[in-house]
Amino acid sequence: MIDLRSDTVTRPTPAMRDAMHAAPVGDDVLGDDPSVQQLEAHVAALLGKQASMFVPSGTMANQCAIRVHTQPGDEIIAHEGSHIMHYEGGGPAVISGCMIAPLSGLHGRFSAQQVRSAVRVDNVHYPRSALLLIENTHNRGGGSPWPVAQLHEVCDAARDAGLRVHIDGARLWNASVALGVPAAQLASKADSVSVCLSKGLGAPVGSLLVGSHECIARARRVRKMLGGGMRQAGLLAAAGLHALHHHVAGLAQDHEHAKLLARAIASNPGLALSEQHEALAGGERVPSTNIVLFSLRDGLAAQLCERLREAGLLALPTGDRSVRVVTHLDVSPEQAQRAAGVLATIR
Ligand SMILES: Cc1ncc(COP(=O)(O)O)c(C=O)c1O
Repeated sequence: MIDLRSDTVTRPTPAMRDAMHAAPVGDDVLGDDPSVQQLEAHVAALLGKQASMFVPSGTMANQCAIRVHTQPGDEIIAHEGSHIMHYEGGGPAVISGCMIAPLSGLHGRFSAQQVRSAVRVDNVHYPRSALLLIENTHNRGGGSPWPVAQLHEVCDAARDAGLRVHIDGARLWNASVALGVPAAQLASKADSVSVCLSKGLGAPVGSLLVGSHECIARARRVRKMLGGGMRQAGLLAAAGLHALHHHVAGLAQDHEHAKLLARAIASNPGLALSEQHEALAGGERVPSTNIVLFSLRDGLAAQLCERLREAGLLALPTGDRSVRVVTHLDVSPEQAQRAAGVLATIR
């Protein structure tokens, strides 16, 4: 079976398991785990920030950030398709008491002018606009990365209006590889950034929140409150360090595989690639990173996914007629070719 449901399905490689086995550990809640400390220092440096905090999931990293940057009753400006809105269990409302002002736009992106228009004037009737949240790459936006200039412009617009900026960078490594830009440049205008180790990189568990010393000190209190303080977490941190040292460059191959699958889908008269994928000069749509979204011209997504399963492919229905396939570390070039053959011919 070729599992293309998500890049979260990757499993630790034998070398990663060796690194986990050898990791020095201690009680991280007491500040004693050298492997966690090494990972936190490494990721803070990669993103050009003062500090970072290891957490079990991207969701916890995002929710800690939201709690740190907001007060109950505040409003978060975010894309209408953002992960924090759809897939984090209503966390902003429950954990931070916040509302979300959703912005529209293809590829999960919006303009600086949209941000300026969404910021509330100071009036007792309104929630206070407190935080801009940017997702990079954007999951429901077809894994699209933000062009650096547009990213910096929207960050500037928010900061000029007195808002904090958080980047949900669950797949920031994919954006960095696809754009050929250091991750620190993508993080430079944000107050905090969350990054994941368990999406496409083989690590079993783990994400980090990065930001200033003050931001991370406050986030550590939130993490503890949410039950995210972990003890001998160095076993997991060692997997994360291994992933960052050995698997980030390989994301480029995942992106090539996604293009191969997208071309196969485009050649199938029964399927249509999502308009979330940007069109090249010649009009061809291709994914920029590792997520491929498409729809059926006829029939139901769940039934198509069943037929794909019978043909040896696992794909994820994302709506009645829409489907997602995602490439990752555990998809070999041979499997990508085989998957493309199935996607080109499936009826
Ligand atoms: C954009 C984005 N943000 C956050 C998350 C949450 O990560 P986790 O599943 O580790 O909570 C995901 C998960 O896929 C994601 O795609």
